[in-house]
Amino acid sequence: MKTPIVDFLKGYAARDIARFHMPGHKGRGALDAARFDITEVQGADVLYHADGVIADSMANATALFGTAATLYSTEGSTLAIKAMLALVAADVPKGARPRVLAARNAHKAFLYGAALLDMDITWLMPRGTAHLCACPLTVREVEKALAAEQMLPQAVYLTSPDYLGNVADVAGIAAVCKRYGVPLLVDNAHGAYLRFLSPSRHPMDLGATMCADSAHKTLSALTGAAYLHIAKDAPLKYVAGAPAALSLFASTSPSYLVLGSLDLCNRTLATGYGEALAKTVLRIEKTRKRLAENGLALYGDEPLKLTLDAAACGYTGEALADTLREKGIEPEFADKDFLVLMISPANTEGELDLLERALLSVVPQAPRVKEAPPLSRPALACTPREALLAPAEEIDVALALGRVLAAPTVACPPAVPILMSGEVIDAAAQALFQKYGVTRVRVLKE
Ligand SMILES: Cc1ncc(COP(=O)(O)O)c(C=O)c1O
Repeated sequence: MKTPIVDFLKGYAARDIARFHMPGHKGRGALDAARFDITEVQGADVLYHADGVIADSMANATALFGTAATLYSTEGSTLAIKAMLALVAADVPKGARPRVLAARNAHKAFLYGAALLDMDITWLMPRGTAHLCACPLTVREVEKALAAEQMLPQAVYLTSPDYLGNVADVAGIAAVCKRYGVPLLVDNAHGAYLRFLSPSRHPMDLGATMCADSAHKTLSALTGAAYLHIAKDAPLKYVAGAPAALSLFASTSPSYLVLGSLDLCNRTLATGYGEALAKTVLRIEKTRKRLAENGLALYGDEPLKLTLDAAACGYTGEALADTLREKGIEPEFADKDFLVLMISPANTEGELDLLERALLSVVPQAPRVKEAPPLSRPALACTPREALLAPAEEIDVALALGRVLAAPTVACPPAVPILMSGEVIDAAAQALFQKYGVTRVRVLKE
């Protein structure tokens, strides 16, 4: 597969051009990569008015993902999520407010996008969940929620896979959404690679209307690289409107290093990636089996994630993370209850052996009780937009009972808010803030 952006960057760097354009390092930074770090000079194309090398590269990505259009983001899924929302927000009938029916475990990019676009959110709360990041919903529950709507929302929004490695029944939920004529948007930030499993488990192949994928989280692209995918059966206006929707939130200075990495990633994906992925998945399954035989409790079913239910193993996730760090391993995420390890075909066999040995050295203990997140729907005092843009102050969580949350206080990762902007802080939320070590919150001024 051709790499038009990288070919251009290499050619430009080789031509010894006097750079009287941005960036100020003129290609001579301390980092080697500075040579390729250019701006939209002649021939380099323009990301959201693409008709040259970027358009050719995005056409390659579109073919690889089998979509109507796959567009690049150099600002992560954070940007692609906001663009998806902007596209569906425009579908609202005159005089009505745009609204999304969303699974509760949404990343804060979703909340901020909805607030900026002044969209309302109806949350789909799980019947039970072990963690804020997980929102197990059945097809029936989504169907019931849609059936109860007097006026259908502009979209249903899911996060799958979630941060802990749970994969939703996207095919089932997509079929329901299609029956109701409501677009299904999926935050697939953690699942770009799912397309290359055999058979594909990518949300776009399971009926999603649009998807945001972080190419940097599981594929070989640099941090910031992401895709906005639009399905072949999606309304044509989404494809036509996508560049403008992305531009609404994007920087006008996209990183060519990130674009180049997306371009190279196409070649990687087209040349043996599926085989390498299948091998890695098989290897992880073996490790999973050995850990289970050793009495360790695993969580989630996403093929490239190894998530330990630390509480069920009798530990905190943080303690397990420290054990791994002592052995030269850095995990993706750890909190009181879970430990998340993200694996890709770029991990070496030696690294996978090291990880397996380190985890096998953990001796299971009597399980610790997890404090599950509250399942009741918090009362809403105002819209997310009002809550995020109104005057606010920071106060102690202990004094926050009954106050309205302004900007959510969330650690990143996982950046899934404990409470959403505009919601009233109740005792359950207060307890959860305390559990996750949040001592101060931003609330609306009274
Ligand atoms: C579930 C989820 N969605 C969206 C994002 C945002 O993705 P990005 O970092 O590519 O902007 C993240 C980031 O961690 C995430 O975990």
